[in-house]
Amino acid sequence: MIPPTDVVADIGTDHGYVLIELLRQNKIKTGIASDNKVGPLDKAKMNAAEAGVKVNMQFTLGNGLETLKGLPVNGAVLAGMGGVLTRDLLEKDLSVVKELDFLLLQPAQNPEVLREYLYNGPFTILDEALIREERRFYEAFLVCYCDHPEKMAEYVNYLVGERLIQNQDPLLPDFLEEKIREGEAILAKLELNSESAQIRQQVLTARIKDLRRLKDDCAG
Ligand SMILES: C[S@@+](CC[C@H](N)C(=O)[O-])C[C@H]1O[C@@H](n2cnc3c(N)ncnc32)[C@H](O)[C@@H]1O
Repeated sequence: MIPPTDVVADIGTDHGYVLIELLRQNKIKTGIASDNKVGPLDKAKMNAAEAGVKVNMQFTLGNGLETLKGLPVNGAVLAGMGGVLTRDLLEKDLSVVKELDFLLLQPAQNPEVLREYLYNGPFTILDEALIREERRFYEAFLVCYCDHPEKMAEYVNYLVGERLIQNQDPLLPDFLEEKIREGEAILAKLELNSESAQIRQQVLTARIKDLRRLKDDCAG
């Protein structure tokens, strides 16, 4: 999903694989590997050296996007962190975000939190995609900062992306089925011994119904 460009930063780089692969594919000229811990950065340096691309990489230690202040960067990747942390890192350094042509975001947990923030904030959603590795689904967003963003529709409490529906993402029916299964599993375990549990039951039942309707629409 990352467009070919000059400089891409990988925030929370850990092993550095994203930049190493982008350099291998000649999609970028320079990669900035950034992490808030020394251990991951050392790992990224070792992997980059092994892959023969270390000369095209810079390594920076610090919190989130603040390591990019004043650097010429075209795009940034924030992958594998939680949706809450990803949202907070964007919000904390919006001055950096505004200067980027794009951000590729791949939250490892709570993607709906990030989706709600992006859909209601100054962001244009350029693309969304689902990825499946074995049984697990991952969600990726390609976005850019925009003062007058297109308003995106909320589907089932931000669990499902509008672009995924528009693009007829091939994994969407299976993804919806998984969300239905997850909801049903929680419903089956609910002990209805309090008012809050009864409210939760109603919310989950309505959510499952909406997900089924969406799945039927996809099939039709
Ligand atoms: C699970 S790894 C994800 C690695 C890689 N981005 C991926 O998608 O496979 C999360 C990485 O984010 C780093 N990290 C966590 N909080 C961070 C922050 N506030 N700023 C920068 N890096 C952070 C961690 O040190 C860790 O290396």
